[in-house]
Amino acid sequence: MDANKKTALDERARQILTGNDRGGYTVPTKNLYPFQWNWDSALVALGFSTFDLDRAWTEIETLMSAQWDTGKLPHIIFWKDDEGYFPGPDQWGTDRTPRTSGITQPPVVATIVRRLFTHPGNAGPDRAAALVEKLDRWHQWFADARDPDGTGLVAIIHPWESGRDNLPDWDAPLSYVDTSGVGDYQRRDTQHVDADQRPQKADYDRYMALVGFGRAVGWDDAKIAADCPFWVADVGMNAILRRAEHDLSWLADAVGLPDIARRAQERAERLEHGFEALWDEDLKGYVSRDLRREGRAKDLSAGSWLAFYAGQVHPAGAERMVALLGEWLQQVTYSVPSFDPGNPLFDSIRYWRGPVWAIVNWMIADGLMRNGYAQHSETIRSHTRTLIAETGFYEYFCPLTGRGGGGDDFSWTASMWLSWATPLPEELGS
Ligand code: GLC
Repeated sequence: MDANKKTALDERARQILTGNDRGGYTVPTKNLYPFQWNWDSALVALGFSTFDLDRAWTEIETLMSAQWDTGKLPHIIFWKDDEGYFPGPDQWGTDRTPRTSGITQPPVVATIVRRLFTHPGNAGPDRAAALVEKLDRWHQWFADARDPDGTGLVAIIHPWESGRDNLPDWDAPLSYVDTSGVGDYQRRDTQHVDADQRPQKADYDRYMALVGFGRAVGWDDAKIAADCPFWVADVGMNAILRRAEHDLSWLADAVGLPDIARRAQERAERLEHGFEALWDEDLKGYVSRDLRREGRAKDLSAGSWLAFYAGQVHPAGAERMVALLGEWLQQVTYSVPSFDPGNPLFDSIRYWRGPVWAIVNWMIADGLMRNGYAQHSETIRSHTRTLIAETGFYEYFCPLTGRGGGGDDFSWTASMWLSWATPLPEELGS
């Protein structure tokens, strides 16, 4: 790629972020996702930090201002009404101001705040310090509400909490969810995007049944822990939380809050211990587990490689996982597919059942780099760069053809371009 092309793409990425800015928060993309989403916002702050650090901090501060008294940070914040989205605030029925959904999303915020804090342009500890206490309450909520028995594994109560909505991992645990009370509803996602790229109706009925369950128990954490029909240890969620606890502990130390640093460290150790229960010797990797029924995901997904992002993977496991990643990559043109490309359930363009996502690539690449696999990490980065440069700033990409899918002008794809995938000066051709 030459310097002119890089400049044009950098500029386009900045335009996408500023165009999706709704005043203090950024929507993932217009039309399809018209509100503030939890992990999208955190990841988007990385892109803003490359040209407007103040705006990056604001993104996170706006997000954290919607934290519940319980500590939970909701997955959507409905700052303004928009009829074009379903399920909206009435379906969630959370009865809060601002109106929010009732579930959470992967806690990448602490990791991103650490990045903003160590940014060369950052003014001082105050903005980070103000967030550390809130992050501690959110992470403690995960421990209390989602791991009440202290096993070291946190549960998700809805596939949407994983951020990887229709991954085949959820098929078996979802099959136990009773949809008889769901009734008629009208989806909005399939009005914006082709139905063959979106989750199928049977899945959507179960998603709505779980929203109905949460609403019926008033989003009470104890009732959810006791009775929610979906209670699954997602490998991705657990990996991301583990990493976030380490980063929170580091941050709390750096801003002079040692009690929080110690608490985060203790939680991180418990999670590290719990994570090993996700190892599957037959599959040679970490997989999600249904904690209600002792079932396990039968296949690896891109989430399995988030074990590297979580921390150090023990050498024997790491070698086997990297070898398997190499096998996956031989079956596709672009890495990393969200699901095993050799599996009959692989679907190259349907959402999380095959496509490549720039943000997951960043996390996997970051983890591989930290675990000493620089070359693999660079391969993933260069594939991400090619996909965006050749196709555009799509929500996700087909790993076989590179075709873009889902929403266009997508904030987190623009952010990943600016903060990670764009070529460095020494990587530019003439
Ligand atoms: C979809 C994705 C989720 C993301 C949201 C907004 O629901 O699965 O991860 O946060 O869109 O981009």
